[in-house]
Amino acid sequence: MSYKAEYERSMKDPEGFWKDKAESLSWYKFPERILSQDEHGIYHWFADGEMNTAYMALDYHVENGRGDNIAIIYDSPVTDTKAKYTYRELRDAVAKTAGMLAGLGVEKGDRVIIYMPMIPEAVISMLATARLGAIHSVVFGGFAAPELAQRIEDAQPKVMITASCGIEIKKVIEYKPLLDKAIDLSSHKPQSCIIFQRPQATASLIEGRDHDWNTLMATAEPADCVPVKGIDPLYILYTSGTTGKPKGVVRENGGHAVALNYSMSAIYNVAPGDVYWAASDVGWVVGHSYIVYGPLLHGCTTIVYEGKPIMTPDAGAFWRICEEYGVKALFTAPTAFRAIKKDDPNAEMLKKYDLSKLLTIFSAGERLDPPTQEWLMAQSGKPVIDHWWQTETGWGITANLQGVEPMPVKLGSSTVPTPGFNVQILDENGQELPTGEQGYIALKLPLPPSCLATVWGDVEKFKSSYLQTFDGYYASGDGGYIDEDGYVFVMGRVDDVINVAGHRLSTGEMEEVVGSHPMVAECAVVARDDDLKGQIPMGLVVLKTGADIDEATLSKELVQLIRSSIGAIACYKDTYIVKRLPKTRSGKILRKSMRQMVNGQPYAVPSTIDDVSIMPEIENLLREKGVIQ
Ligand code: COA
Ligand code: AMP
Repeated sequence: MSYKAEYERSMKDPEGFWKDKAESLSWYKFPERILSQDEHGIYHWFADGEMNTAYMALDYHVENGRGDNIAIIYDSPVTDTKAKYTYRELRDAVAKTAGMLAGLGVEKGDRVIIYMPMIPEAVISMLATARLGAIHSVVFGGFAAPELAQRIEDAQPKVMITASCGIEIKKVIEYKPLLDKAIDLSSHKPQSCIIFQRPQATASLIEGRDHDWNTLMATAEPADCVPVKGIDPLYILYTSGTTGKPKGVVRENGGHAVALNYSMSAIYNVAPGDVYWAASDVGWVVGHSYIVYGPLLHGCTTIVYEGKPIMTPDAGAFWRICEEYGVKALFTAPTAFRAIKKDDPNAEMLKKYDLSKLLTIFSAGERLDPPTQEWLMAQSGKPVIDHWWQTETGWGITANLQGVEPMPVKLGSSTVPTPGFNVQILDENGQELPTGEQGYIALKLPLPPSCLATVWGDVEKFKSSYLQTFDGYYASGDGGYIDEDGYVFVMGRVDDVINVAGHRLSTGEMEEVVGSHPMVAECAVVARDDDLKGQIPMGLVVLKTGADIDEATLSKELVQLIRSSIGAIACYKDTYIVKRLPKTRSGKILRKSMRQMVNGQPYAVPSTIDDVSIMPEIENLLREKGVIQ
């Protein structure tokens, strides 16, 4: 099959194309409405199909001879634990967990927040929620209590599930105090919390609200799958936008299952029974799609890895897993590869392991920089494939489709549009730009299955954030260009979103936190390029008149403030006190120009700037401090 034929069919006959792909799954009632629009004009896939995602991912395989295949391998170097679940064992554990949730009153459409480390119970909780037709919202364990509180406020969960702790290399991070604080901060209170106690920390339980996982499971009865419509939400996943409030991306059951199942063969070239490993975290979209749902829908073995690419115990960690379990496709973020390269530049660790079963290495989450890509291809001898995607889409918008027609790798490009995605480069007026010209990357509607259909509880927000910038298109928030061979080059965000170690964060949100410091009059948080993490945030702060604090003390206090408000993953470290910030005459801070400046790039200053002397003033100051070389 050629890529061109596959892609063109998806463009000319989207309904026929996706109806065919939907036939690979086991529906209770096959959809009649393949693509439809609602009263807001928003597109939905498979609206009237009846199904259950957990059934498709587990029971279906057990009923079709895969019950003894391994579904999950849990490998935790930080606790020295390894475990395996067959599809039958996982189905049974999920059914019982669903019974436990049903016992606490969870029904179809209710929300369950899951705040857990990388342990099998996190995956089991997600699938158990889906089994009941309820909606999960997983919150990354590295987020601080106020972030969790925002999500509780917005999603209004009936039940929350957590563990007593996560383990960061050697550090035990207690989750329960964060959960308690988040519930205190939120006006919505969940009816019940379930706590999975781990031996490394014991959480104290609040009577009446908190329940011990094992105690409830001891008496829970397995629950059956509850049929849902294709259009019903499977999950909400919050992601950073330009404002302080994260957006709840809503994923619908039908389109999600169809797109992910298709992607497993088309993009990743894996078949049922193959071992597929996405080294990410269930708290991120990559974890949702490719630790949990994609591999299980497709009958593969997935790996839940509680460790890091380095230090647990060394830079050979990923290669050890690939050899030990016969991984066929490995997927992670460029930061992980950069960390491995830094610790093991000559790939001595890699060479210790037998990687003969590993066919392809995939990368996403941030742009795969050419030096890292070249290094990894040379050292591993494997194709290293970059693909571009977002929480909003749930799967690759552009990719090098290994199961359709592998294409030559071009360094710096995430290759070509995935079938279903009509990728265009627009100017600021929404006009399509010619080949090779850089502009805003937009996706012509309708979007293919799996892409978000709304923002939780706020369809207007969905429209204003994504659909109103360019009429008839979804605005991706990324900029880039398409070359003469149709290869897409994604060059970075055009908004205030930054990407730290493959984690998407909002500089706007950090500015709110920095601005809440009593000595700070105003501030700008800008992204500075970083060799390991891609980007890290840096604060430029104007003090209030009469404020008496030195830069080092302020810097230390702001680091603490960001850690306790957003989380250590923000990696906020440096603050510089400046006299003034550059603004336009209408008062808009020139963040883009400052980002260019702190990265030593030529910066553009708009003619609307209110005082041309401010930028050179800040530049000189940062040069003196050695920030700019
Ligand atoms: N729970 C609690 N804290 C967490 C956490 C979690 N799940 N994940 C990270 N943190 C904390 C870390 O402990 C660290 O805290 P510290 O500043 O007190 O040491 C901080 O957040 C930053 O963590 P991290 O970004 O992991 O940096 P690091 O310097 O510890 O490790 C790497 C560097 C490269 C090993 C790491 O960034 C990494 O594994 N990156 C890959 C990311 C990835 O897989 N992304 C997938 C998205 S597709
Ligand atoms: P997230 O929603 O957290 O997955 O982050 C999505 C953002 O990460 C995108 O909008 C891009 O800015 C960036 N991103 C993800 N994958 C890539 C890639 N392969 N190349 C360039 N940028 C990427």
